[in-house]
This record gives sequence, structure tokens and C-alpha cells, in this order.
Amino acid sequence: MLKKLLLSALLAPILSHGVLAQNQTQSEIAMKIESLLSKMTLEEKIGQLNQYTARWEMTGPAPTGSSEQELLEEIKNGKVGSMLNVTGAEATMKAQKLAVENTRLGIPLIFGYDVIHGYKTMFPIPLATASSWDPSAAELSAHVAAVEAAASGIQWTFAPMVDISRDARWGRVMEGAGEDPYLGTKMATAQVRGFQGNNLSADNTIAACAKHFAAYGFVEAGRDYNTVDISEYTLQNVVLPPFKAAVDAGVATLMNSFNVIGGIPSTANPHLLRDILKGEWGFDGFVVSDWNSIGEIKNHGVAPDLKEAARLAIIAGSDMDMEGYAYLPFLKQLVEEGLVDEALIDDAARRVLRVKFELGLFDDPYKYSKLDEKGLILNEENLKAAREVAKKSIVLLKNENNLLPLKKAGQKIAVIGDLADDKDSPIGSWRAQAITGSAVSLLEGIENAVEDQSSVVFERGPVFISNEPQFTQHLQYNETDPSGIEEAVELAKEMDVVVLALGENCFQTGEGRSQTDITLKGYQQELLEAVCEVNKNVVVVLMNGRPLVINWMAEHVPAIVEAWHLGSEAGNAIADVLFGDYNPAGKLTVSFPRSVGQCPIYYNHFSTGRAADTGTVFWSHYTDESNDPLFPFGYGLSYTTFDYSDLNLSAGEITADQKLKVSVVVKNTGVFDGEEVVQLYVQDLYGSIARPVKELKGFEKIFLKAGESKTVEFELGAADLAFFGVDKTWKAEPGNFNLWVGTNSQSGLKGAFKLK
Ligand code: BGC
Repeated sequence: MLKKLLLSALLAPILSHGVLAQNQTQSEIAMKIESLLSKMTLEEKIGQLNQYTARWEMTGPAPTGSSEQELLEEIKNGKVGSMLNVTGAEATMKAQKLAVENTRLGIPLIFGYDVIHGYKTMFPIPLATASSWDPSAAELSAHVAAVEAAASGIQWTFAPMVDISRDARWGRVMEGAGEDPYLGTKMATAQVRGFQGNNLSADNTIAACAKHFAAYGFVEAGRDYNTVDISEYTLQNVVLPPFKAAVDAGVATLMNSFNVIGGIPSTANPHLLRDILKGEWGFDGFVVSDWNSIGEIKNHGVAPDLKEAARLAIIAGSDMDMEGYAYLPFLKQLVEEGLVDEALIDDAARRVLRVKFELGLFDDPYKYSKLDEKGLILNEENLKAAREVAKKSIVLLKNENNLLPLKKAGQKIAVIGDLADDKDSPIGSWRAQAITGSAVSLLEGIENAVEDQSSVVFERGPVFISNEPQFTQHLQYNETDPSGIEEAVELAKEMDVVVLALGENCFQTGEGRSQTDITLKGYQQELLEAVCEVNKNVVVVLMNGRPLVINWMAEHVPAIVEAWHLGSEAGNAIADVLFGDYNPAGKLTVSFPRSVGQCPIYYNHFSTGRAADTGTVFWSHYTDESNDPLFPFGYGLSYTTFDYSDLNLSAGEITADQKLKVSVVVKNTGVFDGEEVVQLYVQDLYGSIARPVKELKGFEKIFLKAGESKTVEFELGAADLAFFGVDKTWKAEPGNFNLWVGTNSQSGLKGAFKLK
């Protein structure tokens, strides 16, 4: 109940802004835009399409363009429409003044920033939040981030990242919701709502940006910035749905992706941007390039020079040039030479101006820089919210003989591992303005929770990372100095239980952090095995931003808690779970491979022509590993157990106009109260194109007291069964379907029905 109250109190400010209030101003906004556009010169319109980074904080390769002084002059001359990485009320106010008080028309800048999972109060990384299967948690995380960012002068975040990804090698897995398009749409919608509320001009909302359009999560071999070559079916059925959901939720902007699809750079892809996004979907916000993705059209070998790259990008529908230095120098010339229609520049400028009007920047360009920066940022309420979301994001992977929950008294606890007292890694990658080293460590969380702190003893074990972890640099894992293992073993021998923190440093995942080896790095495996040898009660707390290969651990360790990088309140949230103050209910949204060789691995794959074991080598398998993941999509345990029974389908057949009602009884058969994510999967047995062996089509998170039962109901109609098929339209095809309702993607009660 308390949780519910907290949630509604925090969400109240955004819910109180009526949609109507915004609708009423839409036609006024349109008139204002046209009036402004009519006064603007071509250069001024192009200026609106130009975005520079601040020189003091870079989230991409260092800019080759103007110096800081030149940049300030360009702002004054109306050549800059937006800045990224300018943060803080003071700095944004200063930069805004340059634009508003010096340019001919006084058009305000829009300040963008990567506010991905918090601004200063850090929430769990998005992959973790998705594991809550609770869209309201994602919404809350985005909302608090918006409040804090807005108070610091930021009006626009480059989030949410809604890229579906199936490959744990890709470092940016941590930034998205995982491998499933259905869950992806729910999380995308929730995050857009959280950032934007119902009214962009409110003080506590900022413009969102669905990225990266499109298919960036499908980079070959999981290597960041690599080629993407997927079919139109995969694009439509898997990649685009979360973007469409974000657009339907009113997302103000989208960002291009770095990759090509079928040889066409996304930044220069008119089919994606004009036909689908701005055409079919009716998107009227603007598209910002990714960092120099216009310049990179050249590197892809699709434009000989920057001028041609600019031409391709503006024609395709990329409206704003982030750090590409392509639009400002070349668009005017391209128009004058008749190579670009000026109407395209007008359209792009109109889109940028619309978002600025919607944000209320023309009414008061300084409004975001005048908020109560101190009172609104990193306050107690925000930290409480971060702890709530963090608890929900934890996934219990194993709990043999109910080793967990631990007791707060009467148990001697060894806390081991370099990550256990790490106050920085839990903050995660993409950390906006988080204060370095400000997270509650696992050790602190445990110490806060137990009755007698002297029952908790810490041993670091071997140092994990041997250089200073930084955003822009490679990590060096300690692979030469095992010292610390002995001390850890000695401690483990004496204690009743060991809590062993293992996993990844926060800068092991994120942009530019692809890996071919996703096992435990440094001396972590050695430490794990040595500790397990002397103590049977080992609880591993995993901190990581991607699925890891942990076969030995899964076999030998009795309890495993997947804690990701949980943000500012990480240690407290983990302790809530370890000591049973919160019964974990998270479920994986990414499959955990048994070997990196299985990547990409995902539950909603196609059957293949040779899916069944023939007893010979001639079927689709590996000769040295099974096809199955170690932990499947949707998997996660609880301290209690749930029994599923009485699957009931309202009919054996439905027509395209009818709904199938599916119900199931779920009973809490254990001794703890707890939550369960009830999952509904469907298989379309055959179609005009191959159909996945299973697809998530619904889920509901329910709370059951020990011993309590509840009937959970779902509805399925033709729209839920529709897919982009061989005739290139979205529709459900008649035929037979299997259906499962259960606790993860590999189990469930099975039913069947027919769509006529
Ligand atoms: C990333 C984007 C990010 C941008 C601005 C790029 O390198 O791909 O996701 O928003 O930088 O920081």
C-alpha cells in the first residue's frame, strides 16, 4: 500500500496536466510557427537544424569543428538551434541568453542530454528496470529523471533507447528493455509518458527521444557501430513496434541509428524516415541524427563527401544534425544549386520549432534554468523512488534449499568481492550528472539491514579493475595479481553464509563496450570456486549490464541474485531482497546464454527446417553445447512458489471480430506473500512467412498473499495476432494457434485455438 501511495504521489504532478490543455494550443502553435517561419531567412532555418555539443563534456569522438569561442559566436549569429551536454541551471541560462538576446529573432536553444536512467538520483539501468515487468516503475524512473533534468536546465533527453537486442556481446544491451518487442512497446510507452507527461510545457516534463531508429541492436556479431543486415520482416515485426509505440505515446523526437540496414545508412533512409515514420505513423516531431551519423554516411561509402551526406540526410528526413558539421556549411548551397528543395528545410525547421513551442520555450526561454535545482534534485523522495524501482528490478535466479532470505540476526555474514564495496559501479553506464562513488554499496546495504553490524565482515578478494574506470577509456582487468583470494577463503571458512559480489564494472557495458567474452573477468571465477570450496552457503550477487555466461556458478552456487547496476540505492535495494523485506519478482527480459557462441540467442526465434533432434548430426544444433539458454526469457524466482491451473479459453475458434478470453488460476503455494508476472505466449502455427515458436502477447504482475489464489484474465483478438506478412501489410492470418500461460517463456499451461 505504502508503495502504491508513494508511486501515485510521485506521478501526481504529471497526471494533473490535462491532455486538453495541450490540445487547445496546438492550432495556436501551428499559427505561431508559420508566422515565425515566414520571417526567417534560409540561413536562420538551417541554424535551427544545427546541434553542437558543449566543449566541456563529450559523449562521442572529440568534435573537429569550431573552438569554444567560435561556437559562442555561432550561437549569437543564429547558427545553432540546439546544444547537447550543457548542464546546470547556470550554464544553460548563459547559453540561452546568447541565443535569445543576440540573435535577430531571439529563437531559444533546446538543450539535450543523455538522461537515460536518472539525472543525479540514479535509477537502475533500463535493462534492469525492464526486468521489473512493471511499466509504472519505468514511468516513475523516467519521471523523476525528467524532474531533476528540467531543474537543471535540460529540456530534452536522448531517451528512451527502445532498440530490441538479442546479443549479449553488444554493450548497449544495458540501455534497452531486452529481446522482446511486446515488452519493449510497454516499456517504451511508459518511459515516454514518464519523461513527457501529458504536457511538454510543464516544469516537470522534458521532451523524450526514441532511439536509435532503427535496428541498431542488430549490429553484426554484437560489435558496436557494426553493419546491420536484417529482413524487412524482422524490421517490421521485431524492431519497429517499440518505436511505433513511442510515436503513439506522443514522443517529441527520434534519433537516427549509426548503422546501415541492407546497405542504406539509417540517417539517409527515406523509407524509414519519410515513408514509415513521418508518413504511415504521422510523426510530427523531429529526427535528430546520432553523433555525426550524417558525417558517417561518408564512412559507410554512400556519399563521397560531407555535402552529399548532408543532401542524402535532409532528403531522407533527418531534421537536426548532431555534431556532423554537415547541415550548416552545405544546406544553403544545396538549396541554391537546386539539389535540395527549400520546402524540406522548412519542414525540418517547422518540426524543431514545434517542439520548442510545445516546451514553452518561446513563452519563457529561461524557465528550466530557474527551477529549484537544489530542492528538486537528489532529494529524499527521489531516492526513495529509486530504491522502490531497484527492488523491483532484481531477478532471483537460483535459491536452493531456501538459503535466501538471510536472517538479520544470528548469522555471521561474510561479504566478499571488489564489487561489494564499490560505490560507483552500481550507478551504471550512462550516468548523466551522478556523483561519482555516490551509490549505496552492497556492503553498506547489508550493514544497514542487519541488527548487529559486527556480524558482517568484508574481504575484498583480488582487485577487479586495475586502472581508474572512466567513461571514455578501456578497462584493464586485473589478470596478474590474485592476492586476496586466500584472505577471502579464510573468512568464508569461519562464517555462516557468504554474500559474494561478482559481475561487471559499470563501464564494461554501454556504448562502445562490446565483448566477445562474457564470462566473469579478472580473478572472479577463481575467487568464486575457492570460496565455494570452503562454504556451502554462498549467495552470489551479480552486478552486470548484460547477460553473462555463468554455467559453473549456476551449477554449484546455491543462491544467485541478479542485481544488475541498480543505481543510487543499489545496496539498500539488494539488502531488501537478501533479508526478505522485499520478495523478489523480477523476470529476465534477455536470455542468458550458456556460451557466447550461442549469441544471438532469443526465445522468439523461428523453428528451422531441422529443429528436431534426429539422433544424427543433421539437425540445427551445436555439437558442443545445447541450443537452450541457461536462463530463458521471462525467468525469475520468488521466495514463494506459484501454481498455475484451470487454463480456460472462452472458445476454440474466434473470428477476426471476436475476442478470445483466456483465464488461468494462479495460487501462491508457499509461505511468503509475493508477486508473480503471469505471462501469455502464442504460437501462430503457420503463416505466409515463418512465425516465431513463441511470442509474448500479454503479461500481468499480480500480488498474492501466501495461500491466496487469483484468476488472471487476458483477451486476445486479431489485432494482437497481426504481423507484417508476405504481402507487406499488417494483418492476422487465419489458422491454428498454440497458447501458453505460465511463469516464463519455457513453461506454462498449454491451450490451442483457431482464428477463422
Ligand atoms: C549515442 C547516442 C547519444 C549521443 C549523444 C551517441 O554516441 O549513440 O545514444 O544520445 O551519442 O550523447
